[in-house]
Amino acid sequence: MKVNTAIIYASVDGQTLKICNKLMEVFEQNEQEVELFSIEDFNEDIVNYNRLILGASIRYGVHDKKVIDFINTNKEQLDAIKTAFFSVNLVARKSEKNKPDTNPYVIKFFKSIEGTPTRVEVFAGKLDYKKYPFFDRIMIQFIMWMTKGPTNSDAEIEYTNWDRVTEFGNRLTAL
Ligand SMILES: Cc1cc2nc3c(=O)[nH]c(=O)nc-3n(C[C@H](O)[C@H](O)[C@H](O)COP(=O)(O)O)c2cc1C
Repeated sequence: MKVNTAIIYASVDGQTLKICNKLMEVFEQNEQEVELFSIEDFNEDIVNYNRLILGASIRYGVHDKKVIDFINTNKEQLDAIKTAFFSVNLVARKSEKNKPDTNPYVIKFFKSIEGTPTRVEVFAGKLDYKKYPFFDRIMIQFIMWMTKGPTNSDAEIEYTNWDRVTEFGNRLTAL
């Protein structure tokens, strides 16, 4: 049977999308069929895929509600195929919070969905104060100050560990 994978992202500033593009590369290197969609544009029939990967970033403590709704609305079809979910957030820059069972947002995510994805991961995202509107910048600076992160307003730091993304991609191609 032909194996076809859909990767669906919910990304505001592009880091989750960048991670999805890396996963696309890994699938293509393994000569596997893969298609990329934003959660807004995904109108395909899930039965056309035998693997579905969902990635979403955190904003003010929550994943995009569309992702949670998508999972809960399509529970039966998703249970019938291999699925993976990954979260992108800044708390995961800390080694003690960068695993699915130690990241508070992933723990909370499991309480908001029905069913269990086959694989779950969490990646540290990107901090880029220059991109943020005034209010968001002040809020993120405050959160960073509380969690001993950088607060200088021109800080631009990509915390994503790309080796871990590649490794996750390789594990998914073997599902
Ligand atoms: C307005 C805003 C709110 C955020 N809130 C949180 C948060 O509550 N916890 C956290 O760990 N990261 C938070 N982040 C960090 C993002 O999750 C991180 O920058 C991620 O890389 C964004 O991914 P995206 O570009 O795909 O949206 C926030 C970022 C922004 C801009």
